[in-house]
Amino acid sequence: MKIAVSATELTVDGACAFVPTMGALHAGHASLIKKAREYSDRVVVSIFINPLQFENKDDLAKYPRTPEFDIELAASAGATDLWLPNVDEIYPGEVTKISAGALGDIYEGVKRPGHFDGVLTVVNRLFGLVKPTWAIFGEKDFQQITLIKSMKSDVQIIGAPTVRDADGLALSSRNVRVSDRNAALVIYQALRAAANEKSIDGARSVMAEVLSSEGSFTLDYAEIINENNFEKAQQSDANKRAIIAGWVNGIRLIDNMPMNGGAQ
Ligand code: PAF
Repeated sequence: MKIAVSATELTVDGACAFVPTMGALHAGHASLIKKAREYSDRVVVSIFINPLQFENKDDLAKYPRTPEFDIELAASAGATDLWLPNVDEIYPGEVTKISAGALGDIYEGVKRPGHFDGVLTVVNRLFGLVKPTWAIFGEKDFQQITLIKSMKSDVQIIGAPTVRDADGLALSSRNVRVSDRNAALVIYQALRAAANEKSIDGARSVMAEVLSSEGSFTLDYAEIINENNFEKAQQSDANKRAIIAGWVNGIRLIDNMPMNGGAQ
């Protein structure tokens, strides 16, 4: 695996699959890299902690950084190029932000104003420098991948399912900071309970009930949406998805699950 600091050092000169990350890689990222290898023998992984998407500077400062481990993981998962750009390469001059529009202002966007503008701006910039044919994103950040798919671009956006620990906790770089795992697991338990309900009202109420049973969990939102437009789902909608965000000991966690089995 080639390690590049500037995009000009990347070995890619034809089609490639791209996995943009902010580092602190885990098995979820490994699954994205493996998926990328299904599309191309050239897989570029970037690690760039994008300041534009952190509305909270403390969160940016505390974002985990594990460079040695990341190199090992990217190589063993099948990356051919690991790109570690610096801020000057990504944002060489004044930054013109891409607006995420109305979908950027709801759910994640309520507590994180400007977050998705920052995500779209960096993804657009990364795409411009790598020029991939495909880019792989995890469905754990479902609002993020939905917005990236709606962004004007020639890159084919591929979604990859959420990877979970054996107990159900969705893998996230933030998990290393979670001290009360049982409290964090309430999110998965609520999603499972909702997915097993036949009626959408039942799904909403069981989700709220499970979440409120955990005193150390502070809810931001829990909803069942129509995943095509993020509106509150109706019983008759085909593609329903439960989405949850909240806090455990000062750590913000999000997760989601398609309502395939229940609430149909
Ligand atoms: O999901 C992430 O890790 C980031 O939001 C992304 C897509 C790499 C943009 O910085």
